[in-house]
Amino acid sequence: MSVGKVGRLMVLVVMTAFVVGFSWNLSYADGKGIFASKNCGSCHQIAGPAAEKTFDDQLKKKGPELWYSGSKFKSEWLRGWLEKPATIRLLKYNSITEKNSEKHPALSKKEAEDVADYLMTLTAKEVTAGGVTEASTPQGKNLFVKRYGCVGCHSIKAGAQKAGGASGPDLSEAGKRLKGDWVYAYLKEPKVFKPVKRMPIFVGIINDNEMKTIAGFVAGQK
Ligand code: HEC
Ligand code: HEC
Repeated sequence: MSVGKVGRLMVLVVMTAFVVGFSWNLSYADGKGIFASKNCGSCHQIAGPAAEKTFDDQLKKKGPELWYSGSKFKSEWLRGWLEKPATIRLLKYNSITEKNSEKHPALSKKEAEDVADYLMTLTAKEVTAGGVTEASTPQGKNLFVKRYGCVGCHSIKAGAQKAGGASGPDLSEAGKRLKGDWVYAYLKEPKVFKPVKRMPIFVGIINDNEMKTIAGFVAGQK
């Protein structure tokens, strides 16, 4: 390739990087603006950690914390859900069931993408990537169902159906929604993420390896 061609190629690469970077920045800024203008913050915490907050503080906001969205959610799921919100939690608090029956605001496709891009920038340093393999293994199932009774409060896939308790969030499609690395971090340091009350604390009960296996099993529910 001639020097001139290399030069022109470089200019093209730099310009493309600039345009891509610029449009990402725009959608991020738009998403933040939409989040503010639709008053999403009236129901969701976007500042953390939760360690200093009480359960009552959490109840003052109707929805779950979003300050670690980027560490918790899979972005494709987030975009889709914001466009067509559906029930995840069958609980009295943080839920949109008949017990707390307001409809969740829905966004247009474009708005959902922009807001998702913005939320994905909110991360928690306690979540590190790569420690958990997302797979619905028999070992994971055994720990989740038999050994620690998670299934008493959470439903998981049972063939084409789902089975389990409803006092915790539905986890039967958790792998579409949650990152395994976040589930592990949450089991390990629950107080960073939520002023836990109804979800038992398993620190000191489940060892580190088992926590990883269970987290992988949860994120393997797709
Ligand atoms: C009136 C209160 C309210 C408002 C306003 C509200 N939300 Fe929510 N949001 C909730 C509740 C309650 C849930 C829990 C739904 C469930 O789990 O079934 C929720 C769930 C969510 C979730 C899924 C969180 C998770 O952990 O699974 C996201 C993302 C979300 N809301 C984003 C938004 C955005 C973006 C806006 C603004 C466009 C918004 N919410 C406005 C109450 C609200
Ligand atoms: C006594 C009932 C109960 C048991 C047993 C239980 N959980 Fe939970 N779990 C909950 C409740 C309630 C929440 C919601 C907590 C909150 O949002 O404040 C929750 C939240 C969660 C979440 C976060 C879901 C989300 O979208 O925010 C995960 C993941 C989870 N539990 C996994 C487990 C695992 C793994 C076990 C077993 C080792 C387990 N749970 C045992 C009640 C339970």
